[in-house]
Amino acid sequence: MVIAIDGPAGTGKSTIAMMLAEKLQGKDNKPFTYINSGNLYRAITLGCLRMGIDCSDHEKVLEYARSALLEYREGSLHLGEEMIEDLLHSDEIDRYVSPVSAVVPVRHVVNDLVRKIAAGLNAVVEGRDMTTVVFPNAEYRFYLDASIKERAKRRHTQGVSRLSLEETEKAIEERDSIDRNKPEGSLYIGEDVIYMDTSGLTLNQVYATLLERIQL
Ligand code: DC
Repeated sequence: MVIAIDGPAGTGKSTIAMMLAEKLQGKDNKPFTYINSGNLYRAITLGCLRMGIDCSDHEKVLEYARSALLEYREGSLHLGEEMIEDLLHSDEIDRYVSPVSAVVPVRHVVNDLVRKIAAGLNAVVEGRDMTTVVFPNAEYRFYLDASIKERAKRRHTQGVSRLSLEETEKAIEERDSIDRNKPEGSLYIGEDVIYMDTSGLTLNQVYATLLERIQL
């Protein structure tokens, strides 16, 4: 079974998806695996930056994406032998990941990888096009939203960025614009996807609402 969650940055998607994956157990008694597709784009961006690849050079970025050894081991994303999850949320990666994820053939590499990882598993997958492109037939599809001010505030209080609140808001706005205008895999609310505005709600309230909707 696949539970797919999309939405812009700062809506609490990752935390909620992780909480659901931890809590749920499939009809087959198997646990759920949490897959964060944004982290795959971030990992490719990290690799490109480390290799000195210019992120606007689509050919080189694609070549790198095709060769990158990305896999989940014991629930954590690895690049080759290295566990890289803690390295994926720097300001530098935040800056380059949107253009990298806008490269259409790079999206196909990531989409194939996500489908391969989820194959045969119960999975909670999250990103921007999980409900529309990658798993349009998922058993459950959700879109989490929140106002830009609220999202900037949430990101800012996470304390992982050196940017001011105003700069964070501007950076999110820029990423939203790229994400919503991608030639493929753009962020939008798909047909029949359950929409939820999380502004003013706590993570636990959002989690409880989603949990109520899911009948296993
Ligand atoms: O969810 P996130 O902020 O970690 O995502 C990082 C970037 O990757 C963001 O710019 C959106 C993009 N992304 C995407 O285009 N498609 C996805 N399925 C997931 C993320």
